[in-house]
Amino acid sequence: MALSPTIKLNNGVEIPIIGLGTWQSKPEEVIIAVEYAIKEAGYRHIDCAWAYGNEKEVGEGIRRSGVPRSEIFVTSKLWATRLNDVEGALDESLANLGLDYLDLYLIHWPIHLNPKGNHPNFPTLPNGHRDVVRDWPLRDTWAQLEAVLAKGKVRAIGVSNASERILEEEILPYAKVVPAVDQIELHLYNPQHKFIRYLKSKGIVPQAYSPLGSTGASLLQDEVAVAIAEKHGVAPAAVLLGWQVAKGIVTLPKSVTPERIKANIEGALAAAKKLTAEDIEKLDGVAATGKEVRLIQPPWGVDLGFDNWPVKYQTL
Ligand SMILES: NC(=O)c1ccc[n+]([C@@H]2O[C@H](COP(=O)([O-])OP(=O)(O)OC[C@H]3O[C@@H](n4cnc5c(N)ncnc54)[C@H](OP(=O)(O)O)[C@@H]3O)[C@@H](O)[C@H]2O)c1
Repeated sequence: MALSPTIKLNNGVEIPIIGLGTWQSKPEEVIIAVEYAIKEAGYRHIDCAWAYGNEKEVGEGIRRSGVPRSEIFVTSKLWATRLNDVEGALDESLANLGLDYLDLYLIHWPIHLNPKGNHPNFPTLPNGHRDVVRDWPLRDTWAQLEAVLAKGKVRAIGVSNASERILEEEILPYAKVVPAVDQIELHLYNPQHKFIRYLKSKGIVPQAYSPLGSTGASLLQDEVAVAIAEKHGVAPAAVLLGWQVAKGIVTLPKSVTPERIKANIEGALAAAKKLTAEDIEKLDGVAATGKEVRLIQPPWGVDLGFDNWPVKYQTL
């Protein structure tokens, strides 16, 4: 059983380059998925979040795997209604997971939702728009993350869904600790090449979410990915994931299906070695052939500063 190789974060902590995603994994399924991923498939990195509502079961899966805690890299994320209460929210995630530290803690979205609103996760205004605290200084949340890092409750801190503008204007000028990662939507149809170069220039490791196209894994049908997969005798999923691994991007495929969990890690590691420079160039160019799309678009009604971010409001 091959273990995922690791890369070094800017504070020296090693992160396995392939992690198991857990968004939309049902609680009863995620226990088995996490146990299987660690025990049978060689995963050593689990990507969680308080907002996924399944941290207790993820923790149970980790314990059932029998692999020592120190060998597993666990990430969780601070939800948007808790930007004013980092340590309280972190303590809840730790209690849910049954852990006494996290390897990585991320600001899930650079948006503060009203903590006293009409819903614990997605408060809305009477007109149905999201109830966003528009003048919240993100730097205060970052300072609170630096404090839990200093206390040893987490080994690294980072951001998610933070654009270059957010990093440049709201975090980096005030940060004592540079974010270790930025977890963003990254895949064949949303490769964000320019932003990846920016992150790497700052020493921030990019993490790819929705690498297969999110719910239903729509990118597996892409003709370029399929052709390259056929050429190398691997699965399209292996090409999509191996392409990211070959480029030093941490990738987070989600599955609750044991065969896919195993095939994704084994295929990605094999494909990362087989893909040629020409294959990588072809895959890099797919989005620009009119296929670019952003799949995850919560209707915050706020301009997050990404090139293709829709600002429009929608009601829930
Ligand atoms: N920070 C953020 O805001 C954010 C946002 C989105 C996601 N994420 C993280 O990134 C992870 C991955 O993203 P995602 O869940 O959106 O999507 P994804 O990993 O791109 O795709 C998941 C879908 O692909 C299916 N699948 C997985 N492997 C497959 C295979 N080999 N063949 C066919 N289908 C396959 C899964 O089905 P089954 O499970 O039924 O097998 C599921 O429907 C999340 O779980 C989460 O941890 C973070």
